[in-house]
Amino acid sequence: MAQSTKPVPGAASGSFEATLQVRVDRPGVTIDRNIYGSFAEHLGRGIYEGVWVGEDSPIPNTRGLRNDVIAALRKIKLPVLRWPGGCFADEYHWRDGIGPRAKRPRRANTSWGGVETNAFGVHEFMDFAELIGAQPYISVNVGSGSPREMMEWLEYMTSPSDSSLARLRRENGRQQPWSLKFVGIGNEAWGCGGNMRPEYYADEYRRYAAFVKKYGADEFVKIAVGPSDEDYNWTEVVMKQAAKFIDGLSLHYYTLPTGNWKAKGSATAFGEAEWRATFRRTLRMEEFIGKHSAIMDKYDPDKRVALIVDEWGTWYESEPGKGALYQQSTLRDALVAAINFNVFNQHAERVRMAASAQAINVLQAMILTKQGQMVLTPTYHVFDLYQVHQGALAIPVDVQAPRYGSGADALPSVHASASRDHSGVVHISLVNLDASRGADISVSLKGQAATSVTGRVLTGTSINALNDFGSTAVEPRPFAGEVVAGGLQVSVPARSVVVLAVR
Ligand code: AHR
Repeated sequence: MAQSTKPVPGAASGSFEATLQVRVDRPGVTIDRNIYGSFAEHLGRGIYEGVWVGEDSPIPNTRGLRNDVIAALRKIKLPVLRWPGGCFADEYHWRDGIGPRAKRPRRANTSWGGVETNAFGVHEFMDFAELIGAQPYISVNVGSGSPREMMEWLEYMTSPSDSSLARLRRENGRQQPWSLKFVGIGNEAWGCGGNMRPEYYADEYRRYAAFVKKYGADEFVKIAVGPSDEDYNWTEVVMKQAAKFIDGLSLHYYTLPTGNWKAKGSATAFGEAEWRATFRRTLRMEEFIGKHSAIMDKYDPDKRVALIVDEWGTWYESEPGKGALYQQSTLRDALVAAINFNVFNQHAERVRMAASAQAINVLQAMILTKQGQMVLTPTYHVFDLYQVHQGALAIPVDVQAPRYGSGADALPSVHASASRDHSGVVHISLVNLDASRGADISVSLKGQAATSVTGRVLTGTSINALNDFGSTAVEPRPFAGEVVAGGLQVSVPARSVVVLAVR
């Protein structure tokens, strides 16, 4: 079925041919919707202004939480939100963030600078999570906290009883316990969370995990600090020593276009070589997940323990004067997000939760704010396009496409994943990494004959295209494909993300 639509910028500079086989006849596991989660830390303007403006603000808000951001996150069905850090988690003491705001202590934010007013605390975060419809994922303080502090926090939030802590919660305005499942036992314990060796952290984890008790209806999912990048020894030791107490093991991996923490590269000023280098580094997520999963398989062959990629995204030089770790987000970031999601979809049997870093005004943000204004970044639109995969059955795909670039730097030109939802609709997500050539893709579906196809495309007139305050250059548009003999023929523009719905 052909559809008419406006011409898409970028489709014109020549094209290459590719094939995609979609194995509808071999559905895999359910893609956990929590793969499409995010992360909000007390950092820069991530929380203050990004989420919290206060009840007296002229910016429209609900109990101090900005309405535009709430509506935007509801729209993409953000399933889970991690808080309060990050490195900040291991210096956060939850009692600082309860009770009358005027009396809350002001503390130095030693991880990211400035003073933490604690105006946004436990009640405000849980309220925000409820308003956006996301499950809260709390990282508790291991580095400078104690099992007792963690226990009391969990009891305060989740106990339906008449205990002193449950009473205190009620006195502070919340009658019913909150629903909370996900508990992270520290953050980056190998670095900002305590400079621990894996042997030491594994013991610390076992001790803390023993005191994650059940207070209400929810059974907690206990998440251990996992590795960064290719630190396979961390995974080996922690799994060996503690696997039976772990429900989820985290993985952190950031894409730096240069691979150099001292000169990370610009968020917006880059050429095609850096565009390609960025994707080459993002594609390493595939290798890291594969190798960490193989180690986990040794100690957990039934895959009971989830791999939770709870910090992923691009990390560029920050823009001066706009808050710590503030960066713009271009079309390049959209492709980075889509590649990561494809990898997570393909590894859904082990990767069952993820969190982009971060949600608002920090790193690869979905949303940028400037006082009362809000911008939806290209990354946001990928969350929007990919929400169709939440809770669907993963379907294997086989892409045959020419390499993009030459020699050791060559990349796959097309990256894909697919799933089938509850109503039988097959969604195929395609990324064309090539900066200037469109991809003419013949799609065959094994096990299903296509009768119709619709789609949406995200692209821009240049690789640096971005959305700014007052100008929008990257947003989804309708996309037309053609049904040919039960398969599809699609022309995917250069530098684009396309999501198809096939019936
Ligand atoms: O997301 C920013 C920081 O990156 C987090 O605080 C930390 O966990 C990671 O190193």
